[in-house]
Amino acid sequence: MDLGLQDKRALVCGASAGLGLACARALAKEGAHVWIAARRESLLKERAIELSALGAASVTWCVADLSEPKGVESVLAQQSEFDIVVTNAGGPRQGDFRQFTRDDWLTALDTNMFTPIELVKRVLDGMMERGFGRIVNITSSGVKQAVQGLDLSNGVRAGLTGFMAGLARQSVSRGVTINNLLPGTFETDRLASNFLAQSARTGVDAATLLAQRLAVHPAKRLGQPEELGAVCAFLCSQYAGYINGQNILMDGGSYLGA
Ligand SMILES: NC(=O)c1ccc[n+]([C@@H]2O[C@H](COP(=O)([O-])OP(=O)(O)OC[C@H]3O[C@@H](n4cnc5c(N)ncnc54)[C@H](OP(=O)(O)O)[C@@H]3O)[C@@H](O)[C@H]2O)c1
Repeated sequence: MDLGLQDKRALVCGASAGLGLACARALAKEGAHVWIAARRESLLKERAIELSALGAASVTWCVADLSEPKGVESVLAQQSEFDIVVTNAGGPRQGDFRQFTRDDWLTALDTNMFTPIELVKRVLDGMMERGFGRIVNITSSGVKQAVQGLDLSNGVRAGLTGFMAGLARQSVSRGVTINNLLPGTFETDRLASNFLAQSARTGVDAATLLAQRLAVHPAKRLGQPEELGAVCAFLCSQYAGYINGQNILMDGGSYLGA
């Protein structure tokens, strides 16, 4: 299937590892021009070489802390017209809301709500004028079903989801779709650190916690990042123009709703 992504200009945030990297790889394989942003320069350099080898039309990397407005400015200073934007970063830290301060909430809001909104604000009108655009926000299955111990994430992702739901209905008639990808449990650094944090809280070792989770999981396995990357590339494709305003769960059926 030709996804029609050849030479499209795609920005992927949080792309030095994990799910963002998987999205960048999938878009690179389709021949897009790929911009990758994250904080770790050495990793970004390595990823750029890899993405070029996979078939990207070009790869540009940008060291940016996307929890801060200046991170957004650094990215947009390199390129301000994109056909595709994948918003993503590390998730908020684990914990009970009683231990979080206002600053903790503001950091989570900056990273997982305000930055995606600011990026969209800066690229959307151009996409609409050109008649094509794809925005994919990587959020969390917690949007559908709150995750115990992820109070910050459960809270701030709701704000982003509500905002994007409204915006998606304004942009689609001009060829710009906005969708959210909701990962369940994917095998990434983030997941490993979540299990370690849980282990510190409960005293149960991380391997046992993982085994317990998988025992009750319908799929009996973790999701693989490339599975999510491929769905992201499809959502960005020429065939996905009528998929809009959706929260697409990728959790192996863990969410029990019909
Ligand atoms: N994995 C899962 O099972 C799962 C489940 C539900 C939700 N999610 C959510 O999906 C998103 C991606 O998760 P992941 O598992 O891929 O996480 P990950 O393995 O920790 O990767 C996060 C990526 O984002 C980058 N990043 C983190 N903070 C950043 C910042 N302030 N500015 C710029 N880049 C930043 C990291 O690179 P640098 O360190 O180089 O900046 C890395 O490339 C997160 O929001 C996570 O909460 C994941």
